Amino acid sequence: MHIFYGKAALIDFLKSIQTTHSTIGFVPTMGALHQGHLALMQKSLSENENTVVSIFVNPTQFNNPEDLAKYPRTLEEDVKKLTALSPKIILYAPTVEDIYDGQPVSQPFDFDGLENQMEGKFRPGHFNGVGTIVKRLFEIVKPKNAYFGEKDFQQLQIVKKMVAKNNLNVNVVGCPIYRESNNLAMSSRNERLSHQERDEAAIIFQTLNVAKEKFMIKSATSVSDWVQKSFAKNPIFTLEYFVIADEATLLPCLRKNKNKKYRAFIAIVVNNIRLIDTISLN
Ligand code: PAF
Repeated sequence: MHIFYGKAALIDFLKSIQTTHSTIGFVPTMGALHQGHLALMQKSLSENENTVVSIFVNPTQFNNPEDLAKYPRTLEEDVKKLTALSPKIILYAPTVEDIYDGQPVSQPFDFDGLENQMEGKFRPGHFNGVGTIVKRLFEIVKPKNAYFGEKDFQQLQIVKKMVAKNNLNVNVVGCPIYRESNNLAMSSRNERLSHQERDEAAIIFQTLNVAKEKFMIKSATSVSDWVQKSFAKNPIFTLEYFVIADEATLLPCLRKNKNKKYRAFIAIVVNNIRLIDTISLN
């Protein structure tokens, strides 16, 4: 497997292997790789001649310094997983200096309001950080296809918006959520949970499924009230938000419209660890 820690060598290498017909698939990650990441890479490997994976814990998308400090960094194990998956993978694991050339700062973006909902409300500046790093990585890697998990559905919509607004020639591909055996959505942050927290986190997806059933016959407000009440009694998990929103605009559903696609979004906190999940409702 080829590993690059600096963009200059990566760019030269990609130029040397690309032909006029070959495509680059790209999977950006922050490492601590799990099956969900590997599934994105498998898809990229099957759809492109070359696949680049980046591992970079991007400081500008963390609004909480403790979350940044505690984010799992497991490069050695990640390299083993990538090597076992495919020797064809090209890994880019840059330093902060290689990406930011000096102080790491975000550029401001206008995502037409997508950034003001849910994660945007609870993580100020987060999406400017995501926009900044993804745009920079796209400029370096120049992928034809880029693969993102639907667990971070708001991020997926924001990346699509960033690509459209900047006329970037990248096809952004959303991929299904990978779940653990108890249906907890796979996330690098799950590593930080105790055994008990990890087991009990099954309640997140159970709640989403019941919410989906209720939404068939009830209003978004009454489903949200039910979720708030259920979590109010939970001794382990604190509900940060539960929102039923229009998939395209991410605006909360006030009155159901049969021509719109809706999705439920949830964020909970346990022991300072945030977990998010989402489900399509219709
Ligand atoms: O989803 C992530 O892991 C990160 O937000 C991303 C897209 C790699 C940007 O740092």
